[in-house]
Amino acid sequence: MCGIVGYIGKKRAVDVILKGLSYLEYRGYDSAGIALISDNSARIFKAPGKLSNLKEILCLQKESDINATTGIGHTRWATHGLPTEINAHPHTCNCKSLTIVHNGIIENYKDLKPVLEKKGCKFLSQTDTEVAAHLIAHEFNETKDLLKAVQSAVKKLKGAYAFCVTHKSMPDRIIAARKNAPLIIGVGEGENFIASDIPAIIEYTKKAIYLSDNQVAEIKAESIKIYDENDNLIANKVENLPFEPIALSKMGYKHFMLKEIHEQPDVVRNVLVDKLHDEDTAVVLDDVQLTKDELEKINRIQIIACGTSLHAGLVGKYVFEELTGIPVDVEASSEYIYRNTIADENTLVIGISQSGETADTITAIKQAKDKNSHILIITNRKDSAMARLADSLLPINAGIEVSVAATKSYMAQLLSLYLLAIYFAENKNSKNSLIKDIKKELLTLPSKLEAILNDTKNIENIAKKYSSYKNFIFIARGINYPSALEGALKLKEISYINATGYPAGELKHGPIAMLDETMPVLAILNEGIVYDKVLSNCEEAKARQAKLIGVTNFIDEKHKNLFDDTVIIPEIKDIVSPALNIVVLQLLAYHISEYLGKDVDQPRNLAKSVTVE
Ligand code: G6P
Repeated sequence: MCGIVGYIGKKRAVDVILKGLSYLEYRGYDSAGIALISDNSARIFKAPGKLSNLKEILCLQKESDINATTGIGHTRWATHGLPTEINAHPHTCNCKSLTIVHNGIIENYKDLKPVLEKKGCKFLSQTDTEVAAHLIAHEFNETKDLLKAVQSAVKKLKGAYAFCVTHKSMPDRIIAARKNAPLIIGVGEGENFIASDIPAIIEYTKKAIYLSDNQVAEIKAESIKIYDENDNLIANKVENLPFEPIALSKMGYKHFMLKEIHEQPDVVRNVLVDKLHDEDTAVVLDDVQLTKDELEKINRIQIIACGTSLHAGLVGKYVFEELTGIPVDVEASSEYIYRNTIADENTLVIGISQSGETADTITAIKQAKDKNSHILIITNRKDSAMARLADSLLPINAGIEVSVAATKSYMAQLLSLYLLAIYFAENKNSKNSLIKDIKKELLTLPSKLEAILNDTKNIENIAKKYSSYKNFIFIARGINYPSALEGALKLKEISYINATGYPAGELKHGPIAMLDETMPVLAILNEGIVYDKVLSNCEEAKARQAKLIGVTNFIDEKHKNLFDDTVIIPEIKDIVSPALNIVVLQLLAYHISEYLGKDVDQPRNLAKSVTVE
């Protein structure tokens, strides 16, 4: 992961870079650093921890030490080496003339390092990036040309990288390179920008060049030259950026996560607008680029995703199989790759990703593409690398999600999957009355979500009551099994409580051994085919003295002596209930984390966008 920003122009680089990095902290916040280049000097400032620590250091500097108009900066998610100051970027060479910030993993750094050590390079950090710094410095010593040095060095690097390189003898240029990691060049007037993502530069320019894999760019204040993998100069393809300047405001909420949870009713309305009009009209999905004939030939669906997006995919499986009868496999992207997956031109491969950048999912999608399967991407970033691989692109339009723990993007993914499954069913002329019921439920979903969000006192009290427990089990069956997984993931991500989701029926095959009064069990029970079964599983847990929390849409006398605490959600059909249940679980995780005083929006060790495999 990691976020990088580069600036060259007339402004103080430190201001542009710090601001840019603040928009990229979602990519990692283990450390931050900056290199300011001017008049044959390269000043490097670094700090472990969040960007605020680096800002404090910079505030103490003399103006003359930080007024350079060329610079590069970095916010890190540690892959190789502890999140210490020494491992923070920028990295440099023996004579500290060259500086580099890097996102990705240099896979052959262990092979290159001893060779460079033999040549006299002294390594200070445990990072793979420092190898690239020394390698490029070596090439530079031969050629005295930074562009050529980078062009020659990248041919020796294996793995993934997006980096910016400077040399103090050439403060008028930054060299950038990219392979399997995102990098854009913002095009300004008399100034240019480099960044891992649009929010870092959108305040300054709406024009950018998306660097492609294996390209190297030489960026000066007045010019941008891009070279392909054979070092040939190529024409610049300048595109308009699809963003307005972003006001990252919490809008009065204590955390972005809480704000994003509360945005969900509007997110649902946004997904449905123009696509679902009423229960009697067919769903409109112009984004699906399959002809009716091609659609009819689809005999298999594979959903690939990671983390929260994977859980949305699991809900999607239930809905698709129920409505269309097409078999659906759902797999973590990291498991889909590096094996012989069975897919062909009649397979629909759905990649789900909030960021559209997750390295494992990108690799999996490329693998599926090679099998000629139709690639449909569901993402919150229609400008992302994954979006560019799509045959059909379904943007979820959830708006920028800042909190590392995904909430509203999950909701938008669920809704998109419901619409997609209905679209498929309707195109296959399915006359299923369930389709009508689902449409009805989707249209009333925003007001039901609002009903939960308008009165959260009960959930807050439960959160307080259970916040001191060290372990949790979440159980459910059927279409809410993924809700149990996602609820447990939310809790562990932001509170560091050990929480696990299980199919309720599996409790007796192992996890029940862990139950006693120290292990609360949260059960999701919706009125429907599995209701009584989950109730029995709850009885089994109760008999082992577990504290029980029930999340249900069904008021039942039997709950009285069974549950220690209950959250009642509005009436909803089982098949759409994951969209309501999850909000309860998001709020529960949020309030536990908040009560424990954890860093809700930026939990330790995580990053929002994972661009390494
Ligand atoms: C990271 C994030 C998760 C996210 C997962 C997949 O682990 O912390 O919140 O669910 O990546 O990300 P994607 O952008 O592909 O949905």
